[in-house]
Amino acid sequence: MTVDLLLHDASEVLVDPDEQLENASVVVDDGEVVATGPATEIEREYPRENASRTVDASGRAVIPGFVDSHTHALFAGDRSDEFAAKLRGKTYQEILAEGGGIHRTVEAVREASRETLLDNLLAELDVLLAHGTTTVEVKSGYGLDLDIELLMLDVIAEADDRHPVDVVATFMGAHAVPRQEDADEYVDRVVDEFLPAVTEQGVASFNDVFCDEGAFTVEQSRRVLEAGAEYGLTPKIHAEELVRTGAAQLAADVGAASADHLLMATREDVEALYEAGVTPVFLPGTAFGLDTEYAHADEFLAVADEMGVDAPAIAIASDLNPNCYAQSMGFASTLACVGMKLPPMDALAAATVGGARALNRSDGLGTLREGAPADVAVVDAPTAVHVPYNFGVNTVDTVIKGGRVVH
Ligand code: NIG
Ligand code: FE
Repeated sequence: MTVDLLLHDASEVLVDPDEQLENASVVVDDGEVVATGPATEIEREYPRENASRTVDASGRAVIPGFVDSHTHALFAGDRSDEFAAKLRGKTYQEILAEGGGIHRTVEAVREASRETLLDNLLAELDVLLAHGTTTVEVKSGYGLDLDIELLMLDVIAEADDRHPVDVVATFMGAHAVPRQEDADEYVDRVVDEFLPAVTEQGVASFNDVFCDEGAFTVEQSRRVLEAGAEYGLTPKIHAEELVRTGAAQLAADVGAASADHLLMATREDVEALYEAGVTPVFLPGTAFGLDTEYAHADEFLAVADEMGVDAPAIAIASDLNPNCYAQSMGFASTLACVGMKLPPMDALAAATVGGARALNRSDGLGTLREGAPADVAVVDAPTAVHVPYNFGVNTVDTVIKGGRVVH
């Protein structure tokens, strides 16, 4: 039988969180994983000469491509000066309240041409791909104005067409209250004007809100998420990051795909999320960059275990944005281990199949099971654990997307 691609003799293949194989090969055809198994068995059934392309993975580990389920990867401008200000003791909220932070990026995005925005996003996608990310969620939310929000989504759609990385679009009109605007009036506009136009445009799959002190209240967030759901946009929510607001309970109420950040979530919040089937997404890079406490992912896993939630019960994501300028899911997995005390395999599961769950994908994305999309990262190290273990460098070399070698 001829196949498109044979990835052979890997020292380890991370099939999914429950299955790791040593000395194994992966067979790919028509964009999907056809078989994964011990190298000698695979070689017997799928001889090398019958594969249109072979990749020798000797001495290297093979893992599913990362699924980065939370980014603000489309932006313009430069906020590196805020990095220094934060190191001098300024908080994220202070910067935002002074009109910096998100507001500065909004200004830069409003001034940027479509071409610049597209170039910026394509450049970020190149970096993401080189670091093993094969699916990424990208939010709008630096327009805070109907036309610019639509432009951002349009650019996201074009980047998705033009780049091997799969880009999932999220509308985030409620990312910040525009300067000099009343929050309730802005929410009225998001609900009455933005959401119908975004739906008509047909790019966005998800609808996200920053529900926190200095951003939107639970009531305002509920309005945006419920209205979006009526248009078919699946809710997501930035929840319980800076102060505990009740945003996690809201996520449960509206059946969000994910609740993200969750630093301040209580035990009741965790239970409510799992009861409602909401995937908790942790963003350890944000904690690292802001030098704040990490979310208590280990406690979430303990509750998930008690409640019998299927593994992986959490996702981790990069949160790539000008406040957390980090593209590498490998580094996010390091931080998940060191900062959030996750065992390395749990961190890798959260970065792959966990991310798929946060995007409501149940087609095997984030695994190398039979029938899963053939999205693969080959790691220049003998085991997958080296991805979080060997930090500060890119351990990923070859990347395969939909069965094609793309990096
Ligand atoms: O997830 N919290 C809101 N959004 C981003 C930050 C965006 C920005 O600062 O530009 C986050 O951390
Ligand atoms: Fe975010």
